[in-house]
Parts: sequence; C-alpha cells; structure tokens
Amino acid sequence: MNAITATGLRRSYGDHVVLKGVDLNVQRGTVFSLLGANGAGKTTTVKILSTLIRADGGSASVAGHDVASDPDAVRAAIGVTGQFSAVDNLLTGRENLKLMADLHHLGRVEGRRKVELLLEQFDIVDAADKSAASYSGGMRRRLDLAMTLVGSPQVIFLDEPTTGLDPRSRRAMWDIVRRLVADGVTIFLTTQYLEEADELADRIAVLDHGKIVAEGTADELKRRIPGGHVLLQFNDPRHLEAATRVVRNATRDGEALALRVPNDGSVCSLKALLDRLDEHAVLVDSLSTHTPDLDDVFLALTGNPDKVAQP
Ligand SMILES: Nc1ncnc2c1ncn2[C@@H]1O[C@H](COP(=O)(O)OP(=O)(O)O)[C@@H](O)[C@H]1O
Ligand SMILES: [Mg+2]
Repeated sequence: MNAITATGLRRSYGDHVVLKGVDLNVQRGTVFSLLGANGAGKTTTVKILSTLIRADGGSASVAGHDVASDPDAVRAAIGVTGQFSAVDNLLTGRENLKLMADLHHLGRVEGRRKVELLLEQFDIVDAADKSAASYSGGMRRRLDLAMTLVGSPQVIFLDEPTTGLDPRSRRAMWDIVRRLVADGVTIFLTTQYLEEADELADRIAVLDHGKIVAEGTADELKRRIPGGHVLLQFNDPRHLEAATRVVRNATRDGEALALRVPNDGSVCSLKALLDRLDEHAVLVDSLSTHTPDLDDVFLALTGNPDKVAQP
C-alpha cells in the first residue's frame, strides 16, 4: 500500500500558479525525496499533503486517508518538521519534549520513558536541561524532529531538514533519517541538495515549474542523461588538432585547449584512448574523468545551471 498518493495537485497564490498538476506515489517504509530549487513549490506540496492548506484541484491521500475529506485522520498519522521550528525557546529541550508528550496524552510513565529515549537517540542528553535558545542550529533541528516523533507518526514530512546546517550536523541528520526508515516509518523529504537525495532517497522526484519533470531511483535518473566523459587538456594547439583527428566523437574547445571525449571512465577504455593518442604521438598534458551525477541530471532536466544548489 502507498503511504502517500497524489493525483493532479494544483495550487496557486493569486495569479501565481505554483503547482500545475503534481502526481506522487510513495511506498510505505521508504524515503521519497522531492527535489527542487528555491521557490519550486516543495513547501506548498508538503503543506497540502499535511493538511495545512488545501489544493485548488486534484486529490491526495496520506496513510490511507483523504487530505480533503478526512484531515484529522491524516494529522493523527503524520509528523511535520518544517523550515519554521516548533521548538519553544523559553523551555529546555526536555521540557519541549515533555510538552509534546502531554499534548499526545501519553501519560506520566510512558511520557517520561519516551522523552528520555528521544533525548538519548537524538544526542540531546547533555543539553537536555539547558534552554533551547542556547542550542546550535543542528541541535535545534534534532530537537524539532524528536518532538515530531513523540506522537509515533507513520509518515514524516521533512521540509528541507538540513538547509543551512554545517556538514557534520547534516550527516547527523542523515543518520537519524536512516534509523527512522529502518524502524518502518515513511519519509517525505524535500531538499535543494542533490547529494542529499542521492544519499537518502529510495525514489526521487524533480519538481520544476510546477510539474514533476522526472521521477525514479537515483540510478534511473542518472541513466537518463548522456554518459560520462574524459577531458583531455593540451599545452600545444597542434596536439589538440592532432587529437581531434584521431579520436572519434570528441568535442573540441579551442580556447581552453581541451578535448571532451565520451568515455565510461573504466580503466580499460581509458587505456584504449591513451594508447590511440600514443600511437599518433599526440602529447596530452593532463586528463580528468567525469562520471555523470545528479547535478548533471538536474541540469539536463531543468536546463538551468543557476538552480543547482551547492551544499
Ligand atoms: N502564502 C503565499 N502567498 C503568496 N505566494 C506564496 C505563498 N507561499 C509560497 N508562495 C510562492 O509560491 C512559490 C513556491 O513556494 P514554496 O512552495 O515555498 O517553494 P519551495 O518550498 O520549493 O522553496 C514561490 O514563488 C513563493 O514565493
Ligand atoms: Mg520551502
């Protein structure tokens, strides 16, 4: 059964059409990543699926409940951590978690057990009795997510959970996501970072101009674009000319004295290329191999280099 299904979701703000018919299918117990640039409509999608706003058209169900006709049942089954944190700065980490336990009517004993477990799991024990105002960005995100988990949600929406975090905090968050999935939770993760989707997601959907422009596993998406290449760099234009004559299907960049040759980067095909150049006494100054990654996919699909976020 699918944890999330959406068909033809549409949504505008005034004249501004943000979603133009978005279809999504997320299998239970998997990580699904919605990848898109700033302003692509990721948060809008999350808000619709988590019943915070209504779609103008289309339908969606989450954890088996329709978001429009049964929002309370959806809310009871999900957790959401967004760009705006639910952490209360005036409270300590432990008090924030305790408050959530009370809101979920966990009872004194079960509530305490859950709070201590989450403090432990999310590495907040040492700072548990300090005010949340003193927490670092990474710690605040962890507390925010821990608070979401007090209610034991089946489906968790993580809206750009690592944007603005340093690399170490980002890795810590990735480990937490992996543990959650191992426990059978379904994760809907939005990100601007290709690397993050590549690391975590079972399936990735690319959102661009209000439409899903591609969907699949990271490997499937990578296969959709042209293969890798080797970049040969020359010191002498005459050698570049010679290389252009002896290597097939190469693209020449006269200004940079470089030749781009389609190549899968394997030792065998590199050796064949170098042997051929050697036979014709072509002198290569340097060589670099390039395997396609999700950045290439994103570029190929959206056609806009400015949109690629750098972690
Ligand atoms: N409440 C709102 N009122 C008007 N425009 C909005 C509102 N929320 C979002 N938008 C616009 O909708 C577009 C998509 O926003 P959003 O879903 O937040 O994108 P993302 O999360 O991918 O960065 C943006 O152009 C944004 O400015
Ligand atoms: Mg957003």
